[in-house]
Amino acid sequence: MRTFCCCRLKTACGINLLRVVLILRQLVQYLKLESEEKVAKVVVVANQKGGVGKTTTAVNLAACLAVMEKKILLADCDPQGNATSGVGWDKASRKQNLFSAYFEPVCFQDAVHATSFPYLSLLPATSDLVGVELELVGREGREFYLREGIKQIGDAFDYVIIDCPPSLGLLTVNALCAAQYLIVPMQCEFFALEGMAQLMRTYKLIRQRLNPNLSMLGIILTMHDARSNLTKDVENEVKSHFPGKVFDTTIPRNVRLSEAPSHGLPVINYDIKSKGSQAYLKLAEECISRLGRAGAA
Ligand SMILES: Nc1ncnc2c1ncn2[C@@H]1O[C@H](COP(=O)(O)OP(=O)(O)OP(=O)(O)O)[C@@H](O)[C@H]1O
Ligand SMILES: [Mg+2]
Repeated sequence: MRTFCCCRLKTACGINLLRVVLILRQLVQYLKLESEEKVAKVVVVANQKGGVGKTTTAVNLAACLAVMEKKILLADCDPQGNATSGVGWDKASRKQNLFSAYFEPVCFQDAVHATSFPYLSLLPATSDLVGVELELVGREGREFYLREGIKQIGDAFDYVIIDCPPSLGLLTVNALCAAQYLIVPMQCEFFALEGMAQLMRTYKLIRQRLNPNLSMLGIILTMHDARSNLTKDVENEVKSHFPGKVFDTTIPRNVRLSEAPSHGLPVINYDIKSKGSQAYLKLAEECISRLGRAGAA
């Protein structure tokens, strides 16, 4: 009788314990899903070197992710406003933009606009943005304006993709402080690595002093010409300096990529069959996979 009771008690406890464990597991999964759903992954595309394909990468990566039905905010942090016009937005529009958002942080949401592409929204830039560097210089917490703004709207998006100007000034520092992931576009040319050293110093300083959550998602080789010896040499050198950090995808030099912005279209909306479109679609897939791994880590 005693053994029977003991067995029943053990079984009952076992079943109850199992139930509790299952419920707890479901709860953890639910909370994990909730938190994953609610926070956008913020990716900054930066390199202080000019003309290396930052804007082309930011616009086309954003558009390819949007085609994959991810909710995307493309944030243009460059006073040149090339990402803004690259998705067909009129730079002369007097609607709220990133400049107004810097000075009226409570209205950050008003500066986010839908584009004509499903799932893709834009935080546009105007040339006024140059003034931000001067205006913010004496202000406390000047490095975190963009981060605070994105915090207000981040839960509406899966990814925020930030395009940076070709400098390491306050606009780029704000972008680096707002992001969790850095993508560095790099053109395979002789001086490419020299620029990288300076960028890496800034990246390390930002991580040490301002944003420890920032990590390198990858280096993307742009305007890649597989037949050129110089391209091969630079590619090998970059891979040996940054093991595991160079994306498997490379972006070829492709005339469709340079034509698309003049039509206010990302390349997949201009010529989906082009090599440029295919390369950026592949990059988007690789980013999702890398971000998945980074998220799990
Ligand atoms: N893979 C490519 N094939 C052909 N042309 C390209 C490619 N990538 C970029 N370009 C062209 O090269 C020029 C510079 O590219 P992009 O504007 O993206 O560089 P950037 O780094 O954003 O420049 P900036 O530093 O001035 O902001 C543009 O005219 C663009 O259309
Ligand atoms: Mg640019």
